[in-house]
Amino acid sequence: MLPLLPLLPLLPLLPLLPLLPLLPLPPAKRPFSCVPLDLIFLYNQGKSTESYSCGKLSIRDKLISHFSNANEDSMQSNLVIFPNAGAAKKSKQTEEGTITKYDRAEEQFIELLAMEDLDHQLDVKPEIAIEFEQALSRSIRAAYKNDRSDEKLHPQGDGVFGHGEELPIPNAQCPMPQAAGRLSLSTHKGMEFPAAFDEQAHRFLQRILYRINRLKLFWYDDLRHYTNERSLYLSLCRDQIEAAWQQWELAQMDVAALQQLDVKQALIERASADLDPLLSESSRYIREEMTESGYRHLLAIGSFDGLVEGSRLCYVLGGAANEMQCTLVRVLLEEYGNGRLSRKHSTFFAQMLAEFGMNTEPEGYFDLVPWEVLACANHNFLTTDRKRYFLRYCGALTYFEVAGPAAYKNYLAAAQRLGLSEAAMGYWELHIREDERHGRWMLDDVALPLAERYPNDAWELVLGYDQEKLMGDRAGSAVVRSVREAKQST
Ligand SMILES: [Fe+2]
Ligand SMILES: [Fe+2]
Repeated sequence: MLPLLPLLPLLPLLPLLPLLPLLPLPPAKRPFSCVPLDLIFLYNQGKSTESYSCGKLSIRDKLISHFSNANEDSMQSNLVIFPNAGAAKKSKQTEEGTITKYDRAEEQFIELLAMEDLDHQLDVKPEIAIEFEQALSRSIRAAYKNDRSDEKLHPQGDGVFGHGEELPIPNAQCPMPQAAGRLSLSTHKGMEFPAAFDEQAHRFLQRILYRINRLKLFWYDDLRHYTNERSLYLSLCRDQIEAAWQQWELAQMDVAALQQLDVKQALIERASADLDPLLSESSRYIREEMTESGYRHLLAIGSFDGLVEGSRLCYVLGGAANEMQCTLVRVLLEEYGNGRLSRKHSTFFAQMLAEFGMNTEPEGYFDLVPWEVLACANHNFLTTDRKRYFLRYCGALTYFEVAGPAAYKNYLAAAQRLGLSEAAMGYWELHIREDERHGRWMLDDVALPLAERYPNDAWELVLGYDQEKLMGDRAGSAVVRSVREAKQST
């Protein structure tokens, strides 16, 4: 009888037991809220996935699988209508359904961004993020893990950066995932997906990532817009997208081959080839066929970067002083018109827009920006934010400055053929002159000296260079495709 003694005061409540199921239950916890706070904290501090392993799973694995598993079940029932082999003719309807759901999820995310003290709100009311979290989980699988390789693409795991790196770097021999989803049908467990389905997942993910990343810049708008800039929740969302996306991007690079290169020679050869490349089919279209409305469409998409250009370079300027650092500062100063607004490169872009009576506000044409262009910006945010990727970023900027003039010559040729005013093409002319110089500075005074300073890691310069080229070409093709489509729809 003794063990039951403490329960004696509860005896009068026994008749109420049958009513227990009718009592209100606490709200369902959102996935993150079930994860111990210290795990989230360690994860967010960017600790090694290896060093903080719990049992067989790392903290990253636990968080990510927790997040995805929690969403999986409910998603099947109430979010996305999955296309399948037997429903090919319904693909358009499915695609529209998916677009609507991704759009709705993005709207929900925008509301979350605007909430005062988002992390606390989510603790109290986890259901306010459920639709977004389901779409996030679904889109990551649709965009990056929809082929045979799935998430076990690189089981060896260590990656070329070795232990201590969060981003999984795939083995170069791994099969390429569905990088060309927009061009062909992709396969998932024997079923065919319409290419556009993955397009929407990519678009959703890059837009969400950009909405988080853009909080690193100041937009001279309402200060309350930055209320969640250090939100733990937003950091986790960003990390989750980046981890899957970066693995997917890196699987498209032959990393093992890059590691065997004579880096200085490789950079010199690449830069000389990219100064004056052969005209691609897209370049020819721009030069010879693009109409004036196509040119305006091009400006609208280009304004996404053109009106804030150079912004991310700021993140790598602080720190120890040397010739390399001073060269990077010199590039930034020129991009920023040496502190005079009238000479700032973004001002030249705004003048081109104004010449056509177009919107000169940054992000004014955000909805027109293809995901491939957003990916370039997001990749840039990542490589400038992480000092571990300093070499990759410098390699990327070297390509960007070296290859700029050739691309701008195409746009200039189009503007001249169309008989446009000087102001409507001033940005291109300016860059053909200045970027030639910037390219030389970046190669001779930043990339090559870095290769000497970091002989064991120097190949990362080439990785950054090549990746910028690959992603830039992909974005360029997407822009031309968008210009062509806009022409067809007018
Ligand atoms: Fe510039
Ligand atoms: Fe430049």
